[in-house]
Amino acid sequence: MVIIKTKNYEEMSARAANIIAAQVTMKPNCILGLATGSTPIGTYAKLVEKYNAGELDFAGVTSVNLDEYKGLPKENDQSYYYFMHDHLFSHINIDQRRTFLPDGTEPDAKKACEAYNDIIHSVGGIDLQLLGLGHNGHIGFNEPDDCFALETHCVDLTESTIKANQRFFASYDDVPKQAYTMGIKTILQAKKVVVVVSGADKAEAVYKSFFGPVTPQVPASILQLHPDCIVVADEAALSLVK
Ligand code: F6R
Repeated sequence: MVIIKTKNYEEMSARAANIIAAQVTMKPNCILGLATGSTPIGTYAKLVEKYNAGELDFAGVTSVNLDEYKGLPKENDQSYYYFMHDHLFSHINIDQRRTFLPDGTEPDAKKACEAYNDIIHSVGGIDLQLLGLGHNGHIGFNEPDDCFALETHCVDLTESTIKANQRFFASYDDVPKQAYTMGIKTILQAKKVVVVVSGADKAEAVYKSFFGPVTPQVPASILQLHPDCIVVADEAALSLVK
């Protein structure tokens, strides 16, 4: 595991974008695994800047996202579909037919998860997986558990996640209670993993994930076993690491 320490969020975003840009440059038809959440927003903005400067071409790139809320239509501004289009896909020349997320509008969980696994298998696996890190060490929607989930599965969101998300919705009832997420096995099979982390509130998660024991109670800790994992974290997120 390589840890890149940056001064702040801005530098974290620039360094992560450079790694992704190198991947796209070296393999123009690569498969990118992408994440949502607040942390990668700066990374996507930097990639858009590079694209606008004529430094990057996404025409041959395929993307598979980590997760999606179950039950949210694509046009809902809280859906991860909406997020990805808003922050990245609408601003670059990626072929939108080759941008994949789990289908949150499919009510049959088994069907939705199998279909997403089929997509991931058919594109031939992920070259570079970008990840954010949850406060409890979650990656994707893989929450602390007694075992590591393998492939795409449907998760019941924890009460604390539902409450945390409530601010983005009109009412508690409108907050999705389930999500489809890529499993840990799929994430581990990515050839390269890049984790972006920023802020003092993530310091404990960073410490437990990358310097503590490997356990499904801290899902990101499994990344310690990945042969090519780069953690790009700012000083605040690394403040507990001596
Ligand atoms: C996003 C995802 C989540 C986030 C994590 C951190 O697709 O799957 O695991 O990466 O919750 O979120 P932020 O970046 O908002 O702190």
